[in-house]
Amino acid sequence: MKPLADALNTLSRRLPEWGVWVLGLVPLVWLAGQVVSGSVLVDPVKTIEHDLGKTGLWLLFICLAIPPLRALTGVNLVRHRRAVGLLAFLYIALHLLAWIWLDMGLLIGQALADLVRRPYLFMGIAAFLMLVPLAVTSNAASIRRMGRNWRRLHLLIWPATILAVLHYLWQMKIIRTEGWIWAGILVGLLIWRLSHAKIRARR
Ligand code: HEM
Repeated sequence: MKPLADALNTLSRRLPEWGVWVLGLVPLVWLAGQVVSGSVLVDPVKTIEHDLGKTGLWLLFICLAIPPLRALTGVNLVRHRRAVGLLAFLYIALHLLAWIWLDMGLLIGQALADLVRRPYLFMGIAAFLMLVPLAVTSNAASIRRMGRNWRRLHLLIWPATILAVLHYLWQMKIIRTEGWIWAGILVGLLIWRLSHAKIRARR
């Protein structure tokens, strides 16, 4: 395991921040390519909405998994956490934009009616709003200025991800295996985070 972790750490150190952005934008370019080439024949709006939401959720989970990955395997991707977090925010903002623009046609009345019809959208909005201050303060100047409060503020990623998973589960009419897997991984990450915080506090 150690040689693999060392190799991955070397790779991670060599990978510049723009490299993470390039990798993170691949799903977006892929989706755009599919839409432009007309290969998404069945309900392109739903496909765009779903793909953006799913990629955003993946990236949120990757962000949360970086510290336990380091503690459990020695693979250190901490320096890429900011880029991954911002990419998650970008996909989720585009997911929201796809809903309001492509799905609702920028009609406020229609959007409000949709919110009443599908209350899980509120959970998505609450999750998105929690991510806004995190994206805004994810720069060196804010970290310096806010000190300990920066860490406290960034704990918001937890309630945001919990709400995002509830939003995801609720929009399924019947929760599929995939939904239970996401929920299970989130519970695992949460347990790790809480036990880790306890150990740190004891020290
Ligand atoms: C952290 C924020 C959010 C995350 C991670 C997220 C993620 C997701 C995911 C994973 C799906 C299901 C995709 C699939 O089944 O392949 C989904 C569906 C959806 N989300 Fe979000 N979402 C978020 C916020 C929002 C917001 C702010 C809105 C807009 C109000 C929104 C509107 C929708 C809609 C309309 C659907 C499709 C539901 C359907 O097909 O019936 N989401 N979201």
